[in-house]
Amino acid sequence: MPKLYTPGRILFGYGTFEHTIEDCDLIIVSPSVKTKITQKIENDVEFIEFKRSSKTGEPLEQDVYNLKDAIERVKPGCVAAIGGGSVIDATKLALVLLSQRNIDLKTLYQKGVSFVEKKTRLIGVETTSGTGTGISAAAVVIDNDGVKHGLVGEALICDRAVYDPSLVMSMSKETTAYSGMDALTHAIESYTSTIDNLPADTMALKAVEIAGENIIKAVEGDKKSREMMHYANLMAAIGFANSRLGICHALSHKIGGRFNIPHGKINAMLLPHIISFNASATSRYKDIAMVLGLKTTKDVVNWVKEVNEKLGIPPLSTLGEKFYEMIPQIARETENDGLMKTNPRKAKAEEIEGFLKETFEKDA
Ligand SMILES: [Fe+2]
Repeated sequence: MPKLYTPGRILFGYGTFEHTIEDCDLIIVSPSVKTKITQKIENDVEFIEFKRSSKTGEPLEQDVYNLKDAIERVKPGCVAAIGGGSVIDATKLALVLLSQRNIDLKTLYQKGVSFVEKKTRLIGVETTSGTGTGISAAAVVIDNDGVKHGLVGEALICDRAVYDPSLVMSMSKETTAYSGMDALTHAIESYTSTIDNLPADTMALKAVEIAGENIIKAVEGDKKSREMMHYANLMAAIGFANSRLGICHALSHKIGGRFNIPHGKINAMLLPHIISFNASATSRYKDIAMVLGLKTTKDVVNWVKEVNEKLGIPPLSTLGEKFYEMIPQIARETENDGLMKTNPRKAKAEEIEGFLKETFEKDA
C-alpha cells in the first residue's frame, strides 16, 4: 500500500521554534547553538549539552550510551533535540534504547528497530540545512571500528519537526556548503531511486530546483537563500524518507568515517561521478536537468562540478593513495549495502571498483 511517512507535524518558517518546545521537559542541545537556544527559552526546562566525540558529524556508540544514561536520570515525557544531525540521531537512538529492556546498539544493527515501540515523545529541531533527520526515519551511528551504521524504522521518526530559518542564519560558510550539498544529494538520489512515491518524488524534485537556485547565494550569506535551503532540506528529507537513497550515500558512508571527511563534503565529491555512473539506468536525470534550467544529464554532471568548484569542494583524487589502495574493500562493502537495492543501476563489486579507480585517476 502506498504510504508517505512524515513526522506527526512539521512546523516551518520564522518564529516556529518558539511554539515547539512548550510541552517538552528536556532539551538536548549541541554546544555550538546552546547560547542562542537558551536565550530563546523562557520556560523552566532541563538541558543536556550533547558533545559528540567524532570529527565527521555522526555520534559514536559511546556518545549514544552516555546520552541514554543522562536522559534516564531526568525521565522526561517529551524531549526536544536541537542541533545538527548528530544531536538528533543520538537522541533518537538513546530513546529507542530506553524504550526496550536489555537491548544495545549491536542488537539494533542485527535486528533493526521495527520491533521497538518508542515511549518518549521527540521533537526534532534542525539547526543546519542538510541532514533532514528531523523528518527522516533514519539515524546514523559509528561503531568502535569506525564503520557507520544507518538504522531505519518508524521508532526513529520524530513526533514533531521544526524548521525555523532563524536558527541557520549564523551557520559557517563551510557548514552551509557541506550541508547544502548533502540536501541536494538527498533530493537527487531519492528522485532517481527505484522506489516510486509520487508525493515524495515531487518534494524531492522541487528541492533540487530550490537548491539549484539558492545554494551558492546561501553560502555567500544571503538570508532569503539560507531560508530556502532550509526548506529544500526539509523537502529533500521527505523524499529520501520515503524513496530512500542510492550508491552515493552507500559509498560516502564507507569513505567519510574512514578518512574523516564531513558527510556532505564526501557526497558532493562523489555526486557528479555517481550521476554519470547511473545515467544509463534511469531517465529521471532529464527531469532534474529541466528544473535546473539545463538540457541533458551531462549538463547536470558539469553543473554539479561547477558548484563544487565554487564552494571549494575538492576532486576525489585529493583522497590520496591510501584511498586508492582501499578501493577494492570499499567496493566489496558497497555491493552489499542496503542502499544498493534502491540505486537505479545494479552493480557488482568489480564494477564499483573499476568505476572508483577510473574516477580517482581522472578526477584531478
Ligand atoms: Fe546525507
